[in-house]
Amino acid sequence: MILQKKEENRIPAHVGIIMDGNGRWAKQRNLPRSEGHKYGADVIEPLMDCAIELGVKAVSLYAFSVENWARPVSEVKGLWQLLEYFFKTKLDLIKDKDIQIRHSGSLKRLPSSTKNMIIKAVEETKKNKTIVLNFCVNYGGRQEIIKAVNDWLASAKPGEVITEKKLEKHLYTAGLPELDLLIRTSGEYRISNFLLWQLAYTELYFTDVLWPDFGPDDLRRAVAEFQKRERRFGGL
Ligand code: FPP
Repeated sequence: MILQKKEENRIPAHVGIIMDGNGRWAKQRNLPRSEGHKYGADVIEPLMDCAIELGVKAVSLYAFSVENWARPVSEVKGLWQLLEYFFKTKLDLIKDKDIQIRHSGSLKRLPSSTKNMIIKAVEETKKNKTIVLNFCVNYGGRQEIIKAVNDWLASAKPGEVITEKKLEKHLYTAGLPELDLLIRTSGEYRISNFLLWQLAYTELYFTDVLWPDFGPDDLRRAVAEFQKRERRFGGL
């Protein structure tokens, strides 16, 4: 049974997704890896429609990790072009659907055209309310925690101690709901430096489906599985 609509209670407020398997998807079809990424970008729109329908409030997508710089320059360049193309072709639709774009990660090493596109998308959608689409680009969980501590330190008083609440204010995800569900596609069982702080009590869902094949029904399946989990947050 896969669930259909938001009335079927306990919808995860915030879903994180490690979009893995684009390369393998392309290889299976004798296509270049770039085609896998292209098809991988195409599934985002129907998934966001489904997330809105279910009543999810935020989706964080791991689009490029700080470790992904180790890939061939041509692949990295292709990913920036794809991201730019995504915003060029979808920003109006994103606005129409009242989706708020956020970015988690460092913009520093990005090509200026990609950087500007992300800044524009964030700026022009910042008042949107239906759902947040948080693009994690040039993102690393450890790097995020270090940055949050340093940002807090910069304004801390002598002798002041850091708390969870104070640190959370400096995370990229500040203001977003708790991360309830993490999905990783392609049969890999790793966290890969994604949302390390936010994952403390998150339910984990792994599927063999390769990212370009991950559709709305797969998201509904993941949410249905989430609803079966008994969450105790360390209690009994
Ligand atoms: C992992 O698959 C995927 C990535 C590193 C990139 C994810 C990017 C996209 C889905 C498209 C991004 C575009 C937008 C608009 C966000 P992999 O290449 O590691 O696959 P493999 O493990 O099968 O080789």
